[in-house]
Amino acid sequence: MFHDQQTIKLFPCPVWLFDINSDSVEIVNRNTMATIEKMRPSEKEGQPRQQWQSPNDLHTFPEFEELNNIIKSTASDVLKQQGIETDAFLITGCWINIRPPAHDHPAHTHPNNYLSGCYYVNTPEGGDCIVFRDPKMETNIIAPPLTREDQENSRTIMVPVRSGMVVLFPSWLPHLVPPNQGNIERVSIAFNIMFSSYGETISKPLWTFDNNP
Ligand SMILES: [Fe+2]
Repeated sequence: MFHDQQTIKLFPCPVWLFDINSDSVEIVNRNTMATIEKMRPSEKEGQPRQQWQSPNDLHTFPEFEELNNIIKSTASDVLKQQGIETDAFLITGCWINIRPPAHDHPAHTHPNNYLSGCYYVNTPEGGDCIVFRDPKMETNIIAPPLTREDQENSRTIMVPVRSGMVVLFPSWLPHLVPPNQGNIERVSIAFNIMFSSYGETISKPLWTFDNNP
């Protein structure tokens, strides 16, 4: 028998959740709905409303300054938590996603970025989650029956979300949104973060050439 047991968790796969202050939420949500009103093609007579994605440079729009600040402060916090030396980063893309009832968003990653995330504007009941998938494909080779399903043993994890929340995750982490089972549209804003000077500094070799004999 044993007299002690420890479980050490190696290579964690973090997802960071933030609740944004209500005054900021009010500003971002109001400006988002105004932008949608202005940019989204109008409804076609007799046809159900289609899903819509805005241009992907919303972070350059003055009306998204408050959201930019939210993204920057949450991403800075994550980099600090991760012990990452540089905090100089850019928002490389930012766009609104609208999913009407029954519309989903298939699994994907966000290549060529370090962090990705989502700010939630409107999350109807039944359309209020994001699903992450274990990127370690090997873990599915043997899939024994489970006595319980939770974050310790599942390959797919559903994270509930609500309006005014930011979810940040590594850009390589596959994620999807199941069909919106609510009666109203789900509105969210996705964004990507990358180090500003990746090519100039970070990607250079970490070792130095020793010319001594
Ligand atoms: Fe995504």
